[in-house]
Amino acid sequence: MVMHPASSVVARSQQSTAAVAKLFADSELGPLLERVEHRLQQELQSRYECLAPILRHGVLLGGKRLRPALVLLAGGAGGQISETHVVIATVLEMIHTATLVHDDVLDGADQRRHLPTVNAKWDQQTSILLGDYLFAQSFYLAASLGDVDVCQLIGEAARQVCEGELRQIHSQGDLELDEQAYLSIIHGKTAELCAVACRLGAKYAGAREQEIESLQQFGTALGIAFQIADDYLDLWGDVGQTGKTLGTDLLQGKLTLPIIRLLSVSDEQQRDAIREILQGPAAIRLERLQPFLANSDAAIYTRRRALDFVRQAIDAVDRLPNSPARQILESLARFSVDRQF
Ligand code: IPE
Ligand code: IPE
Ligand code: MG
Ligand code: MG
Repeated sequence: MVMHPASSVVARSQQSTAAVAKLFADSELGPLLERVEHRLQQELQSRYECLAPILRHGVLLGGKRLRPALVLLAGGAGGQISETHVVIATVLEMIHTATLVHDDVLDGADQRRHLPTVNAKWDQQTSILLGDYLFAQSFYLAASLGDVDVCQLIGEAARQVCEGELRQIHSQGDLELDEQAYLSIIHGKTAELCAVACRLGAKYAGAREQEIESLQQFGTALGIAFQIADDYLDLWGDVGQTGKTLGTDLLQGKLTLPIIRLLSVSDEQQRDAIREILQGPAAIRLERLQPFLANSDAAIYTRRRALDFVRQAIDAVDRLPNSPARQILESLARFSVDRQF
């Protein structure tokens, strides 16, 4: 059967949603993921017809829905799930999407979730405003829970995401950035949202403080592993699978773990050559670095470090009572690095 291009885009982007949903298999939490989808649709309606395509763009299609999955699973592993979990999951997915819409402007990316980015399809003004819209709507929805704690925790996590992105922007072109500084940046820009997803999931399930802490640590470690894997894919991934523009880290002069490793294991002469490439024309950096990368352990090391954090995540929850939700969390941790998209 010949597929209409539009429907093949839908199919490919639904594949990434299905990858996480599949881990839920027969779990009773599966239908709750669908409720999050429904809630997202509800939240992104506008009374102005002309805004509908913008609000829906890229939000309803695809996306792995990792943060909603974390809220539900941490809830399932920590106690009793309720409608509050669906709301929190929706809030965090909207915040995540807002950061992506803005991030695509920062990175000059033109593809996301197998579709043109908002900046490519419309323009940067639309991206800035849509990101703001999503942030505003998510905080409004969070406040509907009538709990100051939830608003504070989500507000703080969102602040840390922005702080991480700001630190990254300000370290562009900094060839001295080391692994510790890199990890601290990705902790803020990616792991904090995963950590708060787990914390809130557990808290609203009635988990004990120690369990909440363990699940939060799980989220932090998974988030770091997930971003290391993302940075790996930015160099070695396949656009057809990720559905997003790749190679932007090098183009933007962002040092990620593979390059940090490459610089640290090279001898003085090689390092000078690599530095020259990194400071040279952006469009040919990747091509010129390929031989250096291929002759180093940068790829293997990056994967090994990602797996270290997967191990940390799994260790963090090993004292929780065994449950289907905990098992799925462990699979999710492995998926966060063993993925092509
Ligand atoms: C992309 O996030 C940005 C990172 C934090 C690496 P995802 O890979 O979770 O993006 P979607 O939601 O599945 O599209
Ligand atoms: C951005 O990281 C993570 C955010 C917090 C938005 P990336 O720039 O690596 O994310 P992608 O690769 O564009 O999805
Ligand atoms: Mg980006
Ligand atoms: Mg990336």
